[in-house]
Amino acid sequence: MSFKDSKVVIVGCGNVGSTTAYTMISQGLAEEVVLIDVNKDKAYAEALDMAHSVYFMNRNINVHPGDYSDCRDADIVIITASAPMPKDSTNRLDMLAPSIRIIKSIVGSVMENGFKGIFLVISNPVDIMTYLVYRLSGLPKNQVIGSGTNLDSARLCCELARMYGLDSKSVSAYVCGEHGDSEFVSWHSAVIGGKSVENVMRDNPDRTRNVTPEDLQKQTIKAGWDIFNRKGNTCYGIAASTAAICKSILFNENHIYPVTVRLSGQYGIDNAWLSMPTIIDRTGSREIVEIHLDPEEEKELHRSAELLTSFYDELGL
Ligand code: LAC
Repeated sequence: MSFKDSKVVIVGCGNVGSTTAYTMISQGLAEEVVLIDVNKDKAYAEALDMAHSVYFMNRNINVHPGDYSDCRDADIVIITASAPMPKDSTNRLDMLAPSIRIIKSIVGSVMENGFKGIFLVISNPVDIMTYLVYRLSGLPKNQVIGSGTNLDSARLCCELARMYGLDSKSVSAYVCGEHGDSEFVSWHSAVIGGKSVENVMRDNPDRTRNVTPEDLQKQTIKAGWDIFNRKGNTCYGIAASTAAICKSILFNENHIYPVTVRLSGQYGIDNAWLSMPTIIDRTGSREIVEIHLDPEEEKELHRSAELLTSFYDELGL
């Protein structure tokens, strides 16, 4: 796979789907980007608007509205469609029941058209939805990935970088587990310039100003809600995270991102879909990186797995 002949289909043209498409186009990641939405006018209008933007972009991308037959030769199908978040909700799990039917119908339509590529699931609650897509599609586990805690990890890195006046890309820290309240930071593997974040915080109390690792974890969990409660959605961060995952697939980058994948025995957990750092290449999720978790973090991973798998029976599979 490379730019030439690469094709990405995005299902759902709401804020997340449209912003993801635009991010992919502006970064020149795929030769063809197809938009599908139940509201055909919306898909048509978003695609036309983006098609006009291509004149000013570096690469000549063919962006157009489409239908499920476009999935036949697609490299990646990104699912962003979901039921609206219930009003006053404070937990992504509240979207589960209303979104199940929507995801089932989408996966059925994609697979009926002979899709053989990689599903990238964004719809919340993303970890459970990724499992649902895996089960319904019948594709191998490496070909189904959820956006998971990639964005949460970016949020944490940005905050650490802000505290220490650094480029956020000089910070490496992984949020693992559920993309939601039970997620946790793997502090042991968090580093800034080769120095553990725990030591950086200890050695720079003036800059850290009494902020504890627990505070940072809470702030990371809350970050999506800080945005959602003020503008009713989040879109730029998740779109950039999604584009980065697609880039690693399409350009065979072997980049490591914490994304939703199937644990198959790692940390003593089997058949639970949640985020751990994962090598992503043209085949999808190539390999889970088994980072060292301290005993408390391992317990948190098990808590996330128990919480998420407790919903699997509700999926009607
Ligand atoms: C967020 C959404 C994608 O955290 O769940 O921004």
